[in-house]
Amino acid sequence: MVITRRDALNLIGKSTLMLPLGALSMGAGQFSPQIQPFQQPFRIPPVLNPVHSDSTGDYYEITMQQSQVEMLPGLSTKIWGYNGMTPGPTIRAQRGRQSIVRFINNLPESMVIHLHGMASLPQYDGYAEDFVPFGYYKDYIYPNNRAATLWYHDHALHQTSRHVYMGLAGMYIIEDDLELNLPLPKGDYDIPLIIQDKRFDSDGSLIFDDRRQRGLYGDIMLVNGVPYPRMEVANRKYRFRILNAGTSRTCQLQLSTKDDLIIIASDAGLLSAPVRTKNLRIGVAERYEFIIDFSKYPIGTQIVLQNPIFSSNIDSDNRTQQVMRFDVVRQESDDSDIPNTLRPVQIIPVSSAVRARTFRFGRGNQLWQINNRTWDKNRVDANPSVGDVEIWNLVNTGGEWVHPVHIHLVDLQMIDRNGLPPLPYERGWKDVFLVESGQTVRVIAKYGPHAGKYMMHCHNLVHEDHDMMTQFEVGSGGANPITTAKAKPLPVPPF
Ligand code: C2O
Ligand code: CU
Ligand code: CU
Repeated sequence: MVITRRDALNLIGKSTLMLPLGALSMGAGQFSPQIQPFQQPFRIPPVLNPVHSDSTGDYYEITMQQSQVEMLPGLSTKIWGYNGMTPGPTIRAQRGRQSIVRFINNLPESMVIHLHGMASLPQYDGYAEDFVPFGYYKDYIYPNNRAATLWYHDHALHQTSRHVYMGLAGMYIIEDDLELNLPLPKGDYDIPLIIQDKRFDSDGSLIFDDRRQRGLYGDIMLVNGVPYPRMEVANRKYRFRILNAGTSRTCQLQLSTKDDLIIIASDAGLLSAPVRTKNLRIGVAERYEFIIDFSKYPIGTQIVLQNPIFSSNIDSDNRTQQVMRFDVVRQESDDSDIPNTLRPVQIIPVSSAVRARTFRFGRGNQLWQINNRTWDKNRVDANPSVGDVEIWNLVNTGGEWVHPVHIHLVDLQMIDRNGLPPLPYERGWKDVFLVESGQTVRVIAKYGPHAGKYMMHCHNLVHEDHDMMTQFEVGSGGANPITTAKAKPLPVPPF
């Protein structure tokens, strides 16, 4: 079945909700309360300290729990958060030193925790049916094998969109010496920007309206959990690590001054060289890092980060066209610099591929599908050997839907999109690829280093849940992702 724009509009108008939504409100098609943008101060999620460190690595503990937070001024919002906050605390790790993160589930549903961008063993990758039930915990081992901006989020089968929307997402940053030795802005000038769109009821509760499993589009933009924050900056360079942790919305970011964003990294690490752009397109789960040089602006300048894409069939009003504001408020010296070369990205030669596979992302039987199939943990749709280089053709069969396709385990490179070169800032290591209606995106990767079963899916979380997800198996004999390291009941033992 092909969905036309007219169908989409009809479906949106009739959306109803019959799901067991727990803490979520149901008001379909309703607008959030009006709020004044750029009033609330910008904030940064706290960095989590290890509870223990030894020669094996650093040990962390995170409890998933419900809490009430003030997102909209004067209103209280019930969320599900890592350590009761959303976004969750940021973990900062060093390449080559592993982290052991204990996730404790104090929420009334089974959870799965996935560290997106990490080459984890199958039993620690957050396989969608490797559940951590209420009252259980699981220790996840993360090897931290490359420097990049990752994120951790829920991945429970068919429930991911609701769980992440309720707040279960956080950033995870890995650094290494090469990166730290570059003169890029560091420390207080290295800032996470986790952007999300949400919709609120008049009492502040979150509205989950997935438009009959088509997609969820909020009408309020939040950065690090704050709607349209106002960040006071010095007149110097800053490094921003941006993550689209929304449910379905693709953003196209630009500065109100029409100045350049200087992109230095994509999903899985630094680009070879900085790329200047006035428009940065970022789909769900993509990460980019960019420098803004505020030194050219006089003190008192206000610069809005905008998202001027406006799609009348998904946006109920134009409130998603603004994201946050930077106010240049003080003078500061700046010893940072933007080097001409960052980290050389070694291009995987197309000729090294031993085979190609095609995955068609489309709709059928009232579901989102890959090659006309839905999720089945007993079926494997690709079986590269460890070390094989493969080209995957990611095809969007049409219908005006964008599919941000994510492949677990590996870092990939985009070869082309409909035969045309990727955008300049997409020419680095990535794990999510925007595939628009009718497009074919070719990606290349070397499968490994681990054997085992890993997921690939559309990262529009509503599509993923219903049911645009499949798995591949690297080699044979890999650890069973469900039975190898099962969650254990509380109480937790000491590390
Ligand atoms: Cu960000 Cu399979 O997930
Ligand atoms: Cu992932
Ligand atoms: Cu999709």
